[in-house]
Amino acid sequence: MTHTSGTPLFDLQAEDFGTDFVWGVSTAAYQIEGAYKTDGKGKSIWDGFVSKKGNIFQDQHGQIACDFYNRYKADILLMKSMNIDHFRFSLSWSRILPDGTGKVNQKGIDFYNALIDFCLECGITPWVTLYHWDLPQALEDLGGWTNRKILHWFEAYAQICAENFGDRVKHWMVLNEPMVFTGAGYFLGVHAPGKKGLKNFLPAIHHAVLCQALGGKTLRKTVPKAVIGTTFSCSQITPRSKSKKDIKAAHKADALLNRLFIEPSLGLGYPNESIPVLRKIKKYQRPEDAQNSVFEFDFIGIQNYTREVVRHSYTVPYLRAKIVKATERNVPTTLMGWEVYPPSIYEMLKKFNAYKGVNKILITENGAAFKDRMEEGEVNDTQRTSYLQNYLAQVHKARSEGLKVSGYFVWTFTDNFEWAEGYYPRFGLVHIDFQTLKRTIKASGKWYGNFLKGRKHTKAIKTKKTDVPIG
Ligand code: FCB
Repeated sequence: MTHTSGTPLFDLQAEDFGTDFVWGVSTAAYQIEGAYKTDGKGKSIWDGFVSKKGNIFQDQHGQIACDFYNRYKADILLMKSMNIDHFRFSLSWSRILPDGTGKVNQKGIDFYNALIDFCLECGITPWVTLYHWDLPQALEDLGGWTNRKILHWFEAYAQICAENFGDRVKHWMVLNEPMVFTGAGYFLGVHAPGKKGLKNFLPAIHHAVLCQALGGKTLRKTVPKAVIGTTFSCSQITPRSKSKKDIKAAHKADALLNRLFIEPSLGLGYPNESIPVLRKIKKYQRPEDAQNSVFEFDFIGIQNYTREVVRHSYTVPYLRAKIVKATERNVPTTLMGWEVYPPSIYEMLKKFNAYKGVNKILITENGAAFKDRMEEGEVNDTQRTSYLQNYLAQVHKARSEGLKVSGYFVWTFTDNFEWAEGYYPRFGLVHIDFQTLKRTIKASGKWYGNFLKGRKHTKAIKTKKTDVPIG
């Protein structure tokens, strides 16, 4: 159905997705917590990266961010008032282990215990990501993801998290978007730790792949009844033209952006035929690594925002492929310059469904930044609401065609620190005034809350600490 203006009418109910469908919001520690050196927290690579001039929009930082560390109770209550009953957040490794390894900071553990307990008290299921990009600086000083010792560091960290929180947290994600943190952080140098080049990128890829599986195994052996996943960024890739060269370029971009991290975990190895330079990973490989890259995840979290149009380019080394910016294509875009293209999420669901060994899929991030305006105490962000609705309609289409997809998390709950872009792009369902830290539910947040309120079932909401609501 469409309006005469051409805008599709959204007439779906949350229940149309099934009574077991998980609805939530996603966040990440560095983007919201603040309290960057409170209660014994050690420095992370993001604390270091933001302090260098020119790295972040207007040299902003996450030292205070949303002050979630001090305001988590009010935020969880707000979430509850919006009928959101699944909350994805990440643990700050350097809050728990200030030096990355060795001595545990009990106050860090206490904070997450209090947060987890409060979620459960409010009937909100915690979904915990072990690593959302904020490596302890002390480990970066030893090479970070380029150092094979990260396998030991990460295993020990995962073990501590599993032991301390696993009695109550049953839903886990090992890594957030390894392609982004290795690509932006260790190849392009535009995210922390700001390293560049293949000599950093290739070992970082390989060690992240191994940690992805190792984290899964560690959680599996320690947490009874754990539901274990990991997350991947992904975008539909469209060749700019039908020319052979553009099609080949699109194929390579797809291998890099969509296949690189999932395939080794399924036992398919790296997509070397599509990107021959990946063969150089061999240098960092040991004979047992291919087997040790494999883990049977209970679910895969896919994170989709846009699609990419790709063309051939002689000047791009190794890949010979280049993204044609959405802003140069005369298409609707978000404040990030990302094309608004809802069918991409459907195509990605199809793509990940096609892998043998992918048992269950959740959309663990989807959302958009637009120019929000606070007027007379309200943010009437119609663009965000329609973005979410149009993407959800595609998720629904996938589900009604029988594709696996059993949950959807909006990125994100409140406006927050958007990495190199600072506070400029606002992705939240809830507006934050970063001067006063006041929270105001946007129109999109009200819409999401009402949409969720419509559900008759309460199956997903359980309050007893030992229950595993969805799995
Ligand atoms: C994803 C990240 C998340 C946020 C959104 C906009 O790539 O996982 O932290 O920055 O993009």
